[in-house]
Amino acid sequence: MNNERKILIVDDDTSILRSYQKFLESEGYRVFVARDGREGFIAVEKEHPDLILLDINMPVKTGLELLEDLKRTFDKLPLTIMMTAYGDLDAAVRAMNLGAYDFLTKPVGLEKLCFTVRRALETISLAEKAAYFIDQDETPYRDTIVGRDALMVDIYKTISSLNGNRATVLVYGESGTGKEMVARAIHENTSPKEPFVAINCAAVPSNLIESELMGHVKGAFTGAVASQTGKLEAVRGGTLVLDEISEMPLEMQTKLLRVIQEKKFYPVGSTEQKLFNGRIVAITNKNLTELIETGRFRQDLFYRLNVISIKVPPLRDHLSDLKMLVVHLIKKANFVEKTSIESITQEALDFLGSYSWPGNIRELENAILNASVNAKDKVLTRDSFAFLVPGGVANTAQTCTEAPKFEDFSHGELLTLHEFEKRYIEHVLKKLNWHKGRTAEVLGITRPTLDKRIEEYGLTKND
Ligand SMILES: Nc1ncnc2c1ncn2[C@@H]1O[C@H](COP(=O)(O)OP(=O)(O)OP(=O)(O)O)[C@@H](O)[C@H]1O
Ligand SMILES: [Mg+2]
Repeated sequence: MNNERKILIVDDDTSILRSYQKFLESEGYRVFVARDGREGFIAVEKEHPDLILLDINMPVKTGLELLEDLKRTFDKLPLTIMMTAYGDLDAAVRAMNLGAYDFLTKPVGLEKLCFTVRRALETISLAEKAAYFIDQDETPYRDTIVGRDALMVDIYKTISSLNGNRATVLVYGESGTGKEMVARAIHENTSPKEPFVAINCAAVPSNLIESELMGHVKGAFTGAVASQTGKLEAVRGGTLVLDEISEMPLEMQTKLLRVIQEKKFYPVGSTEQKLFNGRIVAITNKNLTELIETGRFRQDLFYRLNVISIKVPPLRDHLSDLKMLVVHLIKKANFVEKTSIESITQEALDFLGSYSWPGNIRELENAILNASVNAKDKVLTRDSFAFLVPGGVANTAQTCTEAPKFEDFSHGELLTLHEFEKRYIEHVLKKLNWHKGRTAEVLGITRPTLDKRIEEYGLTKND
């Protein structure tokens, strides 16, 4: 057990550093050392120690200054024991006021040191016992929508109102918020026995999208070697999902509008009319109103699609669901990746709650998966999420209002894709404090690609 605990000693007296380090290592702890407050701060960021033994009088940065920095940067101060010179009670009291756990008066005997360290670390064990056990919630894993926040409950109400009609639904929201999940839930609640058919308008080449949707007869165009049933027909009375509807070519938008109005269509090259009986659920993470203004989306189609609209909120707006989502996603990791995580500490949950989640639930899912696969035992701790940058993207009121809303990209001026890409990459880099690994992950590109773009666009940290 001891060897999992990390202790950081910060003291400018090398002989003290060495003797405490040797002694605590012999007790089975992992020990790191730093010679002043500045080195100490770097070590805390890097190693996330469970406990800090902190001298007060040091050059460069004192123990009290380090405490203040830590308090400002991290939501929760690591367990800290101050080591004060005899007679410096005043500084000790100030340290306790700043949140230090205890203080020892120098010179500190090794036995006293050991006792104090052990007792302090026991408080962490107690906190960990209060952690959430995945089994406390006995329902087995099911790939379904989770969340009880009022914003989610509104969505469920809208979905249940769809029963018994075929109204077209527009589902919109930022990337990774769960729009596809909502589309599936609509299907499962309204026409579960009928087909669920999806098409991603951004992924199908524009010259093929018509035949994908309407189908075609043999010989209708070069390459049409056999007839093919279109998705509008294949869906029968089920749900047809048009993902990334903003990317549908204008010409196809016109044709789709007609299908929605007339409930009839002709496969490419055919004179035989077919009926459309399904429900269309269109999905977008773009602001369609903005695209209408710039002539890239048909207003009449928008009105037809927007009969019922569902806004899927960004995760930062329904953080009350975080714990439930975390438990669900751990079960999912256990199920899909065969990991065997049994619990998550309160400290880890607090940390996840302080993060702003620019990539929303998809990012949370990836973080849990990553942490679960790499966990050394069956518990996820704060350390398991060391790859998420603390502080910089914490969910403070300020970062919350600055968080990327998808409406934010609607500048009055019209941008080239090139300029838009540049500004967006810059935006994410700033948001994540130039943490390139995380930026690449959020943007869904590789690290070398990100480096190439940074160079190409001449992006620098101080811009
Ligand atoms: N409310 C939720 N409960 C449980 N899992 C969720 C929820 N919302 C999203 N997820 C999970 O998060 C991931 C992303 O969700 P989904 O693909 O539906 O997002 P999206 O909004 O369509 O994203 P994008 O805009 O990038 O296409 C999926 O693995 C999904 O299972
Ligand atoms: Mg999606």
